[in-house]
Amino acid sequence: TIVSSVYRTSYHFQPPHNWINDPNGPMYYKGIYHLFYQYNPKAAVWGNITWGHSVSTDMINWIPLDIALNPTKPFDIDGCWSGSATILPSLNKPVILYTGSNQEKHQAQNIAFPKNLSDPYLIEWIKPDEYNPVMSATGDINPAQFRDPTTGWMGSDGYWRVALGAEIGGVGMALLYKSKDFVRWERADKPLHSPRGSGMWECPDFYPVALEGKRGMETSLNSEDVKHVLKMSLGETHSDHYLLGRYDEEKDMFIQDNEEKEKNYRFWRRYDYGNFYASKSFFDAGKERRILWGWSNESDSKPDDIAKGWAGIQTIPRMVWLDENGKQLVQWPIKELESLRRKRVHFHDIELKAGGLLNIKGVKASQMDVDVEFELPSLEKAGPFDSLLALDPQVLCEKGNFSTQSGIGPFGLLVMTSLNKDELTAIYFKIFEAYDRHVVLMCSDQRRSSLRPELYLPVYGGFVDIDIEKERRISLRTLVDHSVVESFGGEGRTCMTARVYPAFLVTSKAYLHAFNNGSETIRILHLNAWNMAKPSINVAQDQFLI
Ligand code: FRU
Repeated sequence: TIVSSVYRTSYHFQPPHNWINDPNGPMYYKGIYHLFYQYNPKAAVWGNITWGHSVSTDMINWIPLDIALNPTKPFDIDGCWSGSATILPSLNKPVILYTGSNQEKHQAQNIAFPKNLSDPYLIEWIKPDEYNPVMSATGDINPAQFRDPTTGWMGSDGYWRVALGAEIGGVGMALLYKSKDFVRWERADKPLHSPRGSGMWECPDFYPVALEGKRGMETSLNSEDVKHVLKMSLGETHSDHYLLGRYDEEKDMFIQDNEEKEKNYRFWRRYDYGNFYASKSFFDAGKERRILWGWSNESDSKPDDIAKGWAGIQTIPRMVWLDENGKQLVQWPIKELESLRRKRVHFHDIELKAGGLLNIKGVKASQMDVDVEFELPSLEKAGPFDSLLALDPQVLCEKGNFSTQSGIGPFGLLVMTSLNKDELTAIYFKIFEAYDRHVVLMCSDQRRSSLRPELYLPVYGGFVDIDIEKERRISLRTLVDHSVVESFGGEGRTCMTARVYPAFLVTSKAYLHAFNNGSETIRILHLNAWNMAKPSINVAQDQFLI
């Protein structure tokens, strides 16, 4: 039987019990961060879906509140599914749009308002019968694939827009709806975007990012100085992909950047190449940044989840912005997380020879934040990059492992490692030489993460889009929190979240190592590892924020 407490996270968002999935309606309103989430109040498996609700002033410590949306109406009696919040600027009032599933399991979008705007926590929400549902599946829309409205944005014509996910004729797309008053909605003639290639789009997200700098912007903003991000969650592969482009207001369409066009959706860029799904962003007006939340599902079995009494976490909120190269997003854990850093272990200027292994002692390796920067003296020994085999980075990572010697790399970190190393999770880089450039591969290999049976033990892989010839260095930051291993490669250009359940954790402590299994010496410029404190997350308390 499973010992629940060793896998339960300390600094990731979870309710005390039961199942959670998608983050919903995140917002910053009157000095308070709100997070809603798909929640089954009755069990640790999906079902009876409601909107759980918590509030915070730092997105690290959370106060649990009553369930915000329960299935109480004919239009949501089968479940209150995902949706978003929009703050109506003229009234300074938040509204929620969410998907209701009815008795026939038909989906439609509904609106909810705070019952009492003077309640700083916005605990109670009402779903006015006179408006709901506000968008129904008519015409060619399949009512079983019609859900997850975005945050609204206003065009210069004064009309509100939202996008939502649908599948029409087997093609996944973001449908566009328009409204003058936010309660009466009409479907636009054309979808916001519908490239052929993938099935149903769940949880679309649509927002501007600045061409320069990390500053986030309000969702309605559109100008010459921004690009737009369109994100979709693809159920078949359980992966969140994004496209970069422009929002053409005239056509009322998202126009994808040309050079980035790729028909095969498997190669669309991802926020995270691991277990990270149904994400949603919001504009944090307090700190002028865009924040991204994503759900990380368990990788253990359903019986394990029932035995643990809980399933699902939210990843650490990430700030998101456009890379200097204009071709990809960069993500980084919010600064506030660093307030949990305690005792630090520090190394600098260490040579890691071929086959070198550095045991990093003095840190609690099952609850830590580790950040390392590697320097590569020479790229000469980089192995050849077979571009025919190499289209799919995950396949490349599956072919090797952390001890397969190649020219440069693998080098990286071994986390959640048992004393005799029969259980470990390896996060590492490898550098290849293609005919015109060097290619950096990042892997997170969970195959040896646990000896327990019935676990899903995948290998994750992604390319890191940096100019390694010029930089000659690459960083890796990994957040370890009991069953979570959340990694940020190349300063947040490639992210991978993994869930691990090592057997040794029940009885013994975890170890952390840096390693180099390439044939070339590399340097650790610096390595910092911090013990992480446990914040107060969803434990009932009589302390109030305001
Ligand atoms: C994504 C999703 C959404 C849906 C919700 C139901 O994980 O399937 O499309 O609204 O979860 O819980």
